[in-house]
Amino acid sequence: MIIIPNFIVFEGGDGSGTSTQMNLLRRRFSPSMPVLHSTAEPTEGPVGRLIRKALGGKLPLRAETLARLFSADRQEHLYGPGGIAEHCGRGELVLCDRYVLSSLVYQGITCGEELPLVLNRDFPGPELLFFFDVDPDIAAKRLENRAEKEIFEHRDFQVQVRRRYRELLPWYTGEGVKTVIIDASQSPEKVEEDVWRWIEKMPIFKEEMKNSEKEI
Ligand code: TMP
Repeated sequence: MIIIPNFIVFEGGDGSGTSTQMNLLRRRFSPSMPVLHSTAEPTEGPVGRLIRKALGGKLPLRAETLARLFSADRQEHLYGPGGIAEHCGRGELVLCDRYVLSSLVYQGITCGEELPLVLNRDFPGPELLFFFDVDPDIAAKRLENRAEKEIFEHRDFQVQVRRRYRELLPWYTGEGVKTVIIDASQSPEKVEEDVWRWIEKMPIFKEEMKNSEKEI
């Protein structure tokens, strides 16, 4: 698998706190650090908006159609204008909430393993991937207060999601992606500390330090 340097992905079941962590991490970045571009899938683009409708139950689609939409959204997100490849190419650090593994896990459950594998096999991998591991009951409690429920937010489904992530992580590691399992049942602050410890070890931080030393 081709790996994109400086590309980080957050993965986990619904309610595992990936979006909260994105917001907390954004605040860590100062002007002397690498430039951070944070993004998410499904995207805010036209395909992503269609996906959100389907996730909200407002657009009934076959599971296979949804699998294809996720990979089409990803194609644009990676290679379209202002996409992941463009930002990484400029030497920025890109942090993405969900990516290929979400399709292999979620669509693997709804459509069987084959289709998401075929649809996603050509996408490059991230340098670093965090799996936010949390008991589905704790995750469900976090989602209780949300006004709108999405189609995958059911306990039985989330139990399968967690199992599938754990099964697929070693495969992803074997493909050359550095994967880190985070105990996401901890407080958001503790989770953030754990995540930051890995991010600050990335080579891009050392390079940035060297550059700023040169400027002095
Ligand atoms: P979230 O980003 O708000 O957590 O929700 C996105 C939902 O879409 C979540 O249930 C996971 C699901 N999803 C897939 O099923 N396949 C995918 O490829 C992606 C990116 C997300």
